[in-house]
Amino acid sequence: MRAILIERFGETPALREVPVPEPGGGEVQVAVEAASTNPLDLAIASGALAALGEYRFPLTLGMDGAGTVTAIGDGVTEFDVGDRVFGQFWSSPLRSGTFAEVAVVQAVPALGALARIPDELPSDVAAALPTAGMTALGTLDVMRVPEGGTLVVLGATGGVGTFAVQAAAARGIRVIATASAQVAEEVRKLGAAEVVVRGAEPLDRALRRLAPEGVDAILDTVGDRSLTSGVAGAVRDGGALLSIALGVEEKLLADERIRAADYRLDRKPERLAELTRLVTAGTIRPVIGARLSLEEAPRALTGGIRPTGMRGKTVLRVR
Ligand SMILES: NC(=O)c1ccc[n+]([C@@H]2O[C@H](COP(=O)([O-])OP(=O)(O)OC[C@H]3O[C@@H](n4cnc5c(N)ncnc54)[C@H](OP(=O)(O)O)[C@@H]3O)[C@@H](O)[C@H]2O)c1
Repeated sequence: MRAILIERFGETPALREVPVPEPGGGEVQVAVEAASTNPLDLAIASGALAALGEYRFPLTLGMDGAGTVTAIGDGVTEFDVGDRVFGQFWSSPLRSGTFAEVAVVQAVPALGALARIPDELPSDVAAALPTAGMTALGTLDVMRVPEGGTLVVLGATGGVGTFAVQAAAARGIRVIATASAQVAEEVRKLGAAEVVVRGAEPLDRALRRLAPEGVDAILDTVGDRSLTSGVAGAVRDGGALLSIALGVEEKLLADERIRAADYRLDRKPERLAELTRLVTAGTIRPVIGARLSLEEAPRALTGGIRPTGMRGKTVLRVR
């Protein structure tokens, strides 16, 4: 079968022919229909997350995916052959990700989450959801912005940002988003009340104009510490500055005036269930910025393919 893999950390991911992986005890084999890319994939390939779990080489990349269970290993009670499943396929040890025609994943992934796909969700939609959608929901829980409160989303056009804008707006939160001029209108349609166009006006000045009383929280998905430090003053006393991209300076982490923190996705099975409810209810939807083939994955991962509209999620159609 075809798979996007690396032989060692630091190698550039490449398409290869490899044997079909078989499930061991506690694992399921999935015929992958669609996958989606995340910055996490390259972080894993680089070895930056080596301490987080165990890895086996050759390592097929791909965290997010959707497909049909084709075989189950001993002891699996959660799924049956024929079930449509999706999730973050992060087993430990990790060897067989979703950028392949067939993946093998723990039925209860050690570091991820796996669930049945509701009948009405197509595979490409399901594959676009897990990591970014779960992360957006997790950050909203931590920031605790009240209904009617104001949230700033830095990087509203990306995987996490597009889900965060929609989920926050659905909770009755006023969202101020940052985006490039070309996609500002699309970000408004996602539910942002205000869009601050990058480069048009300094963000701290825009926030003073749009929220003179201060904002309840800032969600950083960009990871630019000078940007977050420059706008931290806009957060009201006791409000939150949360970064998913290690974008908070140490000085700010120690600041007692606001709740500044780095966030790492937690409680994944629970968050995947909540995400599924929100998507099936029509409350939020994935923004799919590009649909590519498996062959195009290496170029997509290394930034060689740039969606023309909002970035959102890049989905790989595998079959
Ligand atoms: N902590 C966790 O648990 C966790 C979970 C998921 C993701 N992450 C991390 O969170 C970050 C975002 O993830 P993602 O999936 O949303 O990534 P993504 O889809 O690549 O989105 C990145 C966002 O940042 C914006 N951006 C990039 N460079 C920028 C710059 N110089 N100035 C302003 N905006 C810029 C992009 O805007 P354009 O579209 O205009 O380029 C886009 O909105 C990544 O670093 C990822 O590793 C962490």
